[in-house]
Amino acid sequence: MQVIKTIAELRELRRCLTGSVGFVPTIGYLHEGHLALVKRARAENAIVVVSIFVNPTQFGPSEDLGTYPRDLDRDLKLLEKEKTDIIFVPSDAEIYPSEFSTWVDVEKVAERLEGASRPGHFRGVATVVAKLFNIVQPTKAYFGQKDAQQAIVIKRMVTDLNMMVEIVVVPTVRESDGLAMSSRNTYLSPKERQAATVLFRALSLARQLWQGGEKDADKIRQQMTSLIQREPLAKIDYVSIADADTLEELDMIDRLALASLAVRIGKTRLIDNMTLE
Ligand code: PAF
Repeated sequence: MQVIKTIAELRELRRCLTGSVGFVPTIGYLHEGHLALVKRARAENAIVVVSIFVNPTQFGPSEDLGTYPRDLDRDLKLLEKEKTDIIFVPSDAEIYPSEFSTWVDVEKVAERLEGASRPGHFRGVATVVAKLFNIVQPTKAYFGQKDAQQAIVIKRMVTDLNMMVEIVVVPTVRESDGLAMSSRNTYLSPKERQAATVLFRALSLARQLWQGGEKDADKIRQQMTSLIQREPLAKIDYVSIADADTLEELDMIDRLALASLAVRIGKTRLIDNMTLE
């Protein structure tokens, strides 16, 4: 396993690589969800590259950039166990030199849901992912279904900018009580951790209602909302039943839909989703 810190070194190394390169971009503090992406990349490629970069441009001014959990030694040990070949750990200055002034802005699909709640977030994500794709030149890149909108935004960018990479979306990894794995779960107190299962419960209710024949999206949104409102530590940011490709809100569920939500548990903002299929 090689740990690379500069773009120049990675480029040099990339030139010598033959066979398919699987790439997993991360912001570190890895958990089973990330490791599922690495395992899939390992199974499908000759070489596996993982990046660890807490990308400052995807955090809003009042978000948790300063306190985002970091533990590089632990991350490296986990990645070694998964037989990762190359870890790219650039500094902020390496990715964003002082004269940096080019951005990737995905419209429409990036403006809804997370985009509406976190202005500038997807601009930061798309820009850094485009840069990482240019640096790593992967054959396939792996993203989690947990961040469903991010995966849709990246796919849009790859199609629109004719990038030569296949995007693979890997199912969400959950704790035994259904809570989706997330580095931000570490912020939760024991009471909040219990309350956080409300996201999975609300999504499961949506799926159950839909499977029971409910096609009226608003009725499902209302039932999800009242379930979450019964949890005193939870505060809803959004509850959505949307077209799974465009993320436009649906009136009737007459095509593949994505139930998604963002909920604050205390000070921690959590997101999750489930397809209605
Ligand atoms: O999903 C993440 O961890 C990040 O948004 C990503 C894709 C690594 C970009 O910084």
